[in-house]
Amino acid sequence: MANFATFCFLCLSLSMSYYLQTSHAMAHEWPVGGSTRFYDFKVQTLRVTKLCNTKEIVTINKKFPGPVVYAQEDDRIIVKVTNETPYNATIHWHGVRQRLSCWFDGPSYITQCPIQAGQTFTYEFTLVKQKGTFFWHAHVSWLRATVYGAIVVYPKTGVPYPFKHPYEEHIVILGEYWLKDVVQLEQQVLASGGAAPPADAFTINGHPGPNYNCSRDDVYKIDIVPGRTYMLRLINAALNMENFFAIAYHKLTVVEADAEYTKSFTTDRVMLGPGQTMNVLVTADQPIGKYSMAMGPYMSAKNVSFQNISAVAYFQYVGAAPNSLSLPANLPSFNDNLAVKTVMDGLRSLNPVNVPKEIDASLFVTVGLNVNKCRSKTPQKNCQGANNGTFAASMNNITFVKPTISILEAYYKKIDGQFTEDFPGAPLKFYDFVNGAPNNAPNNTQARNGTRTKVLEFGSRVQIIFQDTGTVTTENHPIHLHGYSFYVVGYGTGNFDPQTATFNLIDPPYMNTIGVPVGGWAVIRFVADNPGVWFMHCHLDIHQSWGLGAVLIVENGKGQLETLPHPPADLPRC
Ligand code: C2O
Repeated sequence: MANFATFCFLCLSLSMSYYLQTSHAMAHEWPVGGSTRFYDFKVQTLRVTKLCNTKEIVTINKKFPGPVVYAQEDDRIIVKVTNETPYNATIHWHGVRQRLSCWFDGPSYITQCPIQAGQTFTYEFTLVKQKGTFFWHAHVSWLRATVYGAIVVYPKTGVPYPFKHPYEEHIVILGEYWLKDVVQLEQQVLASGGAAPPADAFTINGHPGPNYNCSRDDVYKIDIVPGRTYMLRLINAALNMENFFAIAYHKLTVVEADAEYTKSFTTDRVMLGPGQTMNVLVTADQPIGKYSMAMGPYMSAKNVSFQNISAVAYFQYVGAAPNSLSLPANLPSFNDNLAVKTVMDGLRSLNPVNVPKEIDASLFVTVGLNVNKCRSKTPQKNCQGANNGTFAASMNNITFVKPTISILEAYYKKIDGQFTEDFPGAPLKFYDFVNGAPNNAPNNTQARNGTRTKVLEFGSRVQIIFQDTGTVTTENHPIHLHGYSFYVVGYGTGNFDPQTATFNLIDPPYMNTIGVPVGGWAVIRFVADNPGVWFMHCHLDIHQSWGLGAVLIVENGKGQLETLPHPPADLPRC
């Protein structure tokens, strides 16, 4: 909190001068927030030594994890991003709903072209009715492996948390670290047709902790005063893994998920897919000591190799012997699906919510992997997927291919040939999705390529049923929707069956990323009241690279406050 106070003092003067320059221009624009917070982000490489190895990583302002964006509900955020690296860059503000500001959402080739080497783009958006823990990350290639940081949005002045104010707050970002250059790694994996190699380490706030080579002192630590209650803002920024998190001998009380308050729910461990955030309260009610905070793998897929060594940070009581070993945390085993379900069952909105009861647009979307036939003349090199094919992924058996300019720009300027509007509202064929392929329905292992979008009328009440498929392997997929939060009204295992599915229409959690259960389904609902072009994709980057995504286009409504403004002048060009 000390940092926040200092920061506010600084930003106050910045925002004042900003208003002086632009108050005239801003007068007719909406939405304008409480105060304006200005940040300068320079995309820069940094030499770091980790795991006995020195390499250059891409960062913001040479910080890893990157700088924290602090704000209050309804504030306006302005971030000038200057790319000083040779790589293409963009920044996405994950969980920020970008009301009427789709141009600043950040996914490359969806809402903008990448910011090329030497170029600048200024993101401007308002945190309309949003507060809590978010994060920002690069949204191009696999750059987000190291280009990420927290966004902490406090309630408005004088508005308390709906729980006892914690003694201190700490940001805890889970990540994955590779010794290889991640941009090259993505290209190599795609060229091989095969699976992605596991990360070389998991990290907590950038530190792998003592379980890895040369890492004994590369450990994140929080000093704890006995008896006090702490709030941890957990963020999963991992690239290709879902993760469990636990603290030795301490309970976690979940009070917020994906930047929305939840009923408080106490558990020994949580699971976060990449893209999910969670605030948990932890009370230091144990004997003075040094306790592990641990991050381990949740791998629901079959036959996938993954990092199995947990990252450890210290939850260290004041007065504990500093050189003592830390007490180990009790993480679930990597395939503990029940532990995941228990966490999901615990997530409920704090108050009764206004879930759409009637639905105007109902979509059924399968999510899963595919194997395509080998088309290479050098199959040993390029067809390392299952059955000597190449791995792909799809929604409704359509592999998403990124266009060459952004879909938003093509849509707005009516440029032909970049995308189509025929993303199907249901799979071509209904079959036993979970158990059927590839044995009984081999036709469904081969996906079609396309840059297909689904157009939704402004204001329509939308339901999406996500169904995991067993093609290649069933797996929990963290599906993220840009531009919206959605109510998770139901989920279960097996094939979705409208006869037996039960929905919570009273207090479902309001999330932006939902882990669709392994071999199961999840149903979300939201009102499409934010015009723009919104990416919907698996937040495991390898799946995104393989095409596990689709785009929703929400049309303009009638009034000015229902219409997407024109693009900013400095929008990057491809
Ligand atoms: Cu967190 Cu499309 O991203």
